[in-house]
Amino acid sequence: MKEIENREDVKLLVHSFYAKIRANEEIGPFFNTTIQDWESHLEKLTDFWENNLFAVRKYFGNPIEAHIKVDEQFHNKINPSIFGLWLNLWFETLDELFVGENVETLKRRARKMGTMLMVTIYESRKKESN
Ligand code: HEM
Repeated sequence: MKEIENREDVKLLVHSFYAKIRANEEIGPFFNTTIQDWESHLEKLTDFWENNLFAVRKYFGNPIEAHIKVDEQFHNKINPSIFGLWLNLWFETLDELFVGENVETLKRRARKMGTMLMVTIYESRKKESN
């Protein structure tokens, strides 16, 4: 078991994680119906986490906007238990492949971002119903 040291490691992490996501009955459909081009999604998410961990400026997307849209598409079906599932699979993948400080950093950052995204999704629903 090794530490997460470079883009190749992040790429392995991202590919392994989304293989689990896609195969999961409960959370898989959110992704399998939304994402048409998996190669570019995996490339984008490798950029995102590489950016997050190693401060390279490669990701310029808008995760908040993307998740509000996905929640709309699925008629507000995203909930904390779905986020919990996402995080469990993220932690499981990290622990299966790597050890060290960056593993803990990526667990912490995903948990924080998950909370922020869920809150933002709820707030955007409130605005729509006004
Ligand atoms: C901690 C949790 C999460 C993190 C850190 C995360 C991160 C991201 C990021 C960075 C993107 C790319 C956004 C862009 O620039 O286009 C993305 C896209 C996406 N996420 Fe998440 N996500 C999380 C949870 C979830 C959950 C729980 C779901 C499903 C219910 C989800 C579904 C999606 C989908 C379907 C896309 C693709 C959107 C599109 O391309 O149209 N995510 N996510």
